[in-house]
Amino acid sequence: MYAIEVEHLNKSFAVGKEQVQVLKDLSFGVEKEDFLSIMGPSGCGKSTLLYLLGG
Ligand SMILES: Nc1ncnc2c1ncn2[C@@H]1O[C@H](COP(=O)(O)OP(=O)(O)O)[C@@H](O)[C@H]1O
Ligand SMILES: [Mg+2]
Repeated sequence: MYAIEVEHLNKSFAVGKEQVQVLKDLSFGVEKEDFLSIMGPSGCGKSTLLYLLGG
């Protein structure tokens, strides 16, 4: 069993009339006592993922 488990997570924002998909079918598991770094360029969705994990 994972401490954190994400299955097929999608997130999009409405920007005007458009939907901008930020997270696309994202799946991963984090084991208890794992250390995890989330890396990527500015705007790739790191903060969005953390907000969603926080509920
Ligand atoms: N509340 C919001 N409304 C519209 N677009 C957003 C919102 N929050 C984030 N975005 C867009 O989603 C994308 C990912 O943002 P973000 O998660 O903050 O990236 P990071 O933390 O990796 O820099 C960016 O293109 C950003 O402009
Ligand atoms: Mg950020």
